[in-house]
Amino acid sequence: MATVVVALGGSLLRPEVEERHNWLQSLVEVIVASVESGSKVALVVGGGAPAREGIELAKQFIEDVTHLDRIGIAATRLNATIVREALAEGGLDVSKKIPESIEVAALELENCDVVVMGGTDPGHTTDAVAIRLAIQSGAEKCVIATNVARVYSHDPRDNPDAKSFDELTLAELQEIVGPPKHAEAGTSQVVDPIGVGEAYDHGMPLDVLDGRDTQLIKKSLDGDDFEGTRVRS
Ligand code: UTP
Repeated sequence: MATVVVALGGSLLRPEVEERHNWLQSLVEVIVASVESGSKVALVVGGGAPAREGIELAKQFIEDVTHLDRIGIAATRLNATIVREALAEGGLDVSKKIPESIEVAALELENCDVVVMGGTDPGHTTDAVAIRLAIQSGAEKCVIATNVARVYSHDPRDNPDAKSFDELTLAELQEIVGPPKHAEAGTSQVVDPIGVGEAYDHGMPLDVLDGRDTQLIKKSLDGDDFEGTRVRS
């Protein structure tokens, strides 16, 4: 049975995503269809607005990045709970608890069709968690559902000449996002450099796409052509 892990950027659940109720509903339909076609799916949900707000508030008097990371992790688990409950409501066999480690998540995935989790430990983001879980559970790939259409050579908001890519190697993606080290809590790259480093080490394929359009997630899960960036060894 094929297993796929999806990192869902927390920004996808933010208030400014138009029609986010419809988005969540259609995400549930996409996961139901994928499970019906014989896949197991693990979703790793980012912290989005609550992470950013919480870290911003605490930053005024907390300097230790590990402590700020813990606030981010709590936010990812809040968002994971929202997604978990929506999937359970959609009739899916989804693990009851939000696993707090990769090991527990991989075990849960052996028993259930769907597992939803947030972060694990300080020092990285949920992209890295998703990539680790994909490696640990022998998944065929890890989908990075974010809020940009593709991976760009530079941030397109600052650089109008930024080039976008349909395909990249893992080594090329590492060059774009930088060396595998933890950024300041709450700041983000298109894909967490720490996760990219582990994907590179294990040859884990990544599909980077705009998760605001759930049909792109569906196409990637179905193994069809999708608009986005395919990252391979
Ligand atoms: P996210 O995974 O949401 O990171 O975790 P992000 O890339 O900054 O945000 P989005 O999803 O693209 O909007 C939020 C924060 O929580 C902490 C980190 O500080 C991260 O920046 N975190 C999360 C951890 O320390 N460990 C984890 O396993 C997950």
